[in-house]
Amino acid sequence: MHLLTFQRLLWSAAFSLPTVVAIVEHVFEAPSAQTNGFLRRFIADDSKTLIEVLKIAQAEEMDIWQIRKDFVDIYSPPSSPGIPSALRSMRHSSTNLISVPEPRPRLRHPDWNLTSLQNTTFHAEFHPQAEVDAFMVDLARLHPDSVSILHLGHSGEEREMLGMKISTPSNTRKLGFIVLGPQHAREWVATSTALYLAHALLANASEPNSLAYLLDVYDFHIIPSPNPDGYEYTWDADRFWYKNRQIVGPGAKCVGIDMNRNWGDHWKPHAKYPLLWEDDDLKKKKKKKAEPADPCSHWYPGHRAFEAPEVNNLANYITKVNGVGKGAGKGGIVAFLDLRSYGQMLATPYSYKCDKLPKDAEDQMEALLGAAQAGRSVYGTQFSTGTLCELLYRAPGNILDYVYKAASIKYTYAAFLRDTGTYGFAIPPAWIRPVGQETGAMVEYLARFIARQRGIPL
Ligand SMILES: *[C@@H]1O[C@H](CO)[C@@H](O)[C@H](O)[C@H]1NC(C)=O
Ligand SMILES: *[C@@H]1O[C@H](CO)[C@@H](O)[C@H](O)[C@H]1NC(C)=O
Ligand SMILES: *[C@@H]1O[C@H](CO)[C@@H](O)[C@H](O)[C@H]1NC(C)=O
Repeated sequence: MHLLTFQRLLWSAAFSLPTVVAIVEHVFEAPSAQTNGFLRRFIADDSKTLIEVLKIAQAEEMDIWQIRKDFVDIYSPPSSPGIPSALRSMRHSSTNLISVPEPRPRLRHPDWNLTSLQNTTFHAEFHPQAEVDAFMVDLARLHPDSVSILHLGHSGEEREMLGMKISTPSNTRKLGFIVLGPQHAREWVATSTALYLAHALLANASEPNSLAYLLDVYDFHIIPSPNPDGYEYTWDADRFWYKNRQIVGPGAKCVGIDMNRNWGDHWKPHAKYPLLWEDDDLKKKKKKKAEPADPCSHWYPGHRAFEAPEVNNLANYITKVNGVGKGAGKGGIVAFLDLRSYGQMLATPYSYKCDKLPKDAEDQMEALLGAAQAGRSVYGTQFSTGTLCELLYRAPGNILDYVYKAASIKYTYAAFLRDTGTYGFAIPPAWIRPVGQETGAMVEYLARFIARQRGIPL
């Protein structure tokens, strides 16, 4: 994918719609095995406009990529590239062409030689699920003393969910750090970053970007692809699939649960439209009874918490290594990082409520501001910081709230990686390493901050 041209078209004069200000087109070379979709950013000056855009998008079954306080990113696939007439009068700032790769044959011979982080070809491209698994197995073979493969259970489609525990042999008890890849299948750069981080931790300390020294103090638990069915589906069928792939709803006619709304902390059945929380209509309705979400919808939270087998498996693992409820903290896990994309945001709990802060908010934010600075120092990438609810919107059933509250992991964060909406979920493979490096710098900062707080030299 190469950036060929960068055209700026001023449309305000060409259209009688004064609300359309400018359309910026980023045109990428589309190799024959790619087609183009469109990503448009609709600007909202107030929450009423935002809700209006969302309602239209929802009614038209459009693919919403990002919702913020002041804009909505909406993707149109190559099959229907236009804007529905109802949305045409809404102000939008840009239209980006998004290259969508065609499905590619699976599991080429893995000749990626993982001996060196610097020299391997592995991080030059994204990898389908089978190659993600092969990478983990290869790393374990290469570093038998430090890597154990985690068998986390089976997905809805009976895939075995794998992860890695990276831990150098030692007599002393170490602190624990969990890194989770994307629960939303299409966030590929979050998967590639989890793999990069694992590799950086295992890279010889003499190599550039090695994070090996963190293993003197920490054990890392890395789960790069916690939604393997959805992830595989993004390679096979629909590049921008979001949920898992379990059959749901009455008559079994819908597919998929939004895993990151299916956690057992303030789980709610009616998470259909994120922003309609603030909608007057719903407030009136809520007084009676909010309707459960449509199981076919994007944000379907399941009909009970932990209904998604993948979420259940992850929760079991967290329980096993750290305990939940009364026994929480027994495993010494001190940090949890939920890798996501996109938006360049670093978030603390809570997600379910904006006007309630965790009791550890001050420490959490201090560490996070340092991490944002560390991330920026590598390539200048800026990250916004705040609680998840502030940065996005109120969403119950989120993993952050569960991990922080039930599992008592104090330094719990979500990191939304690059970019801010030019490529969205279709990040160019050339960014895999840079994103890995800047995320590595953030992990390093957090690890050192927490160690220092505990008086442990690192
Ligand atoms: C992998 O790379 C290392 C050096 O980084 C080299 O010593 C080794 O021979 C390579 N292995 C293969 C199978 O090419
Ligand atoms: C990586 O490649 C460079 C250049 O060929 C070489 O100098 C370096 O030793 C290699 N590193 C490893 C760990 O193999
Ligand atoms: C790491 O690299 C150094 C210097 O190149 C080398 O002496 C050492 O054996 C390497 N360690 C491992 C575990 O490969």
